[in-house]
Amino acid sequence: MTSEEVRKLFLDYFEKRGHRVVSSSSLIPLDDPSVLLTTAGMQQFKKYYTREKDPIKDFGTQRTASIQKCFRTTDIEEIGDETHLTFFEMLGNFSFGPVGDDDPKNFGTDGYFKRSAIYWAYEFIKSLGLEIDYVTVFGGEKNVPFDEESYKIWKEIGFPEDRILKRGREDNFWGPTGDEGPCGPTTEIYIENIEIWNLVFNEYYQDKNGNLRKLEFPGVDTGMGMERLMKVSQRTPTIFETDLFEPLNKVLENLTNKENQRKRRIVLDHLRGSVFLIADGLYPSNLERGYILRRILRRLTLALKFLEIDISKIELLIKAMIEKYAAFYPELKNFDKIKEVIFKEIINFERTLSLGLKEFNRLIKGNESDSELGEKLFLLYTSYGLPLEISKELLREEGLVWKEESQKVFEELFKKHQEISKG
Ligand code: ALA
Repeated sequence: MTSEEVRKLFLDYFEKRGHRVVSSSSLIPLDDPSVLLTTAGMQQFKKYYTREKDPIKDFGTQRTASIQKCFRTTDIEEIGDETHLTFFEMLGNFSFGPVGDDDPKNFGTDGYFKRSAIYWAYEFIKSLGLEIDYVTVFGGEKNVPFDEESYKIWKEIGFPEDRILKRGREDNFWGPTGDEGPCGPTTEIYIENIEIWNLVFNEYYQDKNGNLRKLEFPGVDTGMGMERLMKVSQRTPTIFETDLFEPLNKVLENLTNKENQRKRRIVLDHLRGSVFLIADGLYPSNLERGYILRRILRRLTLALKFLEIDISKIELLIKAMIEKYAAFYPELKNFDKIKEVIFKEIINFERTLSLGLKEFNRLIKGNESDSELGEKLFLLYTSYGLPLEISKELLREEGLVWKEESQKVFEELFKKHQEISKG
């Protein structure tokens, strides 16, 4: 099954069950100052959970479904391994109370809760020909009780009890995004040991001080990772070989014969992420979200260098990526603008990088103590403008480890430097 088929199956499935299909919102949140970028499907619906907005008025139903573009920055330095991504898509169905007849046969427009959400998730996964390995439910912690209802529903479906695992707040309680918002216990579906689908039961609102209060109506917020789903359904070795990345992989195959997996994955992830961010109107800068874009474009530049790919060829990668996604995301049609922004940033950084790389190779001998590494990377930063995270990526390539002590020395020197420049 291709990703295009899965998109359609998912949206049709929930549309048939009373959901209004809503387009992905922008990666730049419209009215949620608590986060820099969109990280979850529920974000555009936050105000429907709190009743500040009326779902019936806007959607004609209490139920919506979407495939949402998401961007998470917590793991940027992990990108290059088999599992992490910055940009990803999330398939989700949502309900915003009041809860009517919570029966999976109820294809109406009223709110639903745990029973319908769990039955439908189970049925949808089965309809794709996939087997669930195990599920988790919230086992209870602090002042939030064990989610016995979800546990019973899984049992009622006929799911073997020894594969319904109880987990604590760390694993099975989701949200809020940013510093306040709807949140609640979750039940999660695992296939091949990968969390595929997270079903959140938004029963609470967490305020800025971390206090929970019950929402007037409990809601449902689910999120299934598109890339992970395609990995298990297409049985590829990692998330990077599914049809979502296939066109990019083909172009890469023609552009490089370097087998550096880590750098290839960085190209796949960062190129896709930056194209989507730019398509949503972001420009690289030194501030907040603009800086996120700048960081991934710099890391992309370094990866291209390692793979010995000529920068002018990046156009082929952008084109292949856009062709794969444009039918679903019309904002990607602006190829010329996207290309221009990426080119400009990469070419600017390329000069710094070439010089920095030369100095890095001259300076780093491989036998430095932790504190010497801190000093040397500081020198590369102040004298040659080589950003710390790029130097760290270079160290990694050399098999050198950046430890806490190196970081400490770097930060101390940096602080002194700032004091001196302030006068
Ligand atoms: N909002 C939930 C998540 O992001 C579904 O995992």
